[in-house]
Amino acid sequence: MKKVITYGTFDLLHPGHINLLRRAREMGDYLIVAVSTDSFNHEKGKQAYHSFEDRRVIVEAIRYVDQVIPEESWDQKVSDMKEYDIDIFVIGDDWKNKFDFLKNYCDVVYLPRTEGISTSKIKRDRF
Ligand code: CTP
Repeated sequence: MKKVITYGTFDLLHPGHINLLRRAREMGDYLIVAVSTDSFNHEKGKQAYHSFEDRRVIVEAIRYVDQVIPEESWDQKVSDMKEYDIDIFVIGDDWKNKFDFLKNYCDVVYLPRTEGISTSKIKRDRF
């Protein structure tokens, strides 16, 4: 079984998120999504509209997602790759080359982002 993992906040879910998750799941047989916790977001200077628990419930309900785990720090990735026996790490190309160090553990794929939509844009436009 080919296992894929991706990371992100996934706040105010939008089609860019869904496109990313669909393509990630199509690369393998099992998709794990590591959703950023509120305290990790705080560390990044980010504040999500939905709490971690709500974002977890929402992401878990997406048909392309098999499992949600918390993303609590920058440096958990290597241990996640080993613990969950990951074959492919996938993330949007806004992170291009940032996670190349994971190539020692699995394939690393940067997918093109969906143009014209982001959580920040929704917040700017709607709130
Ligand atoms: N993503 C994407 N296309 C978009 C927006 C996001 O492919 N238009 C991807 C990101 O590259 C990342 C994942 O979705 O791999 C989760 O991104 P996240 O940061 O939660 O969403 P953004 O909309 O980028 O949020 P923000 O504007 O707060 O950065």
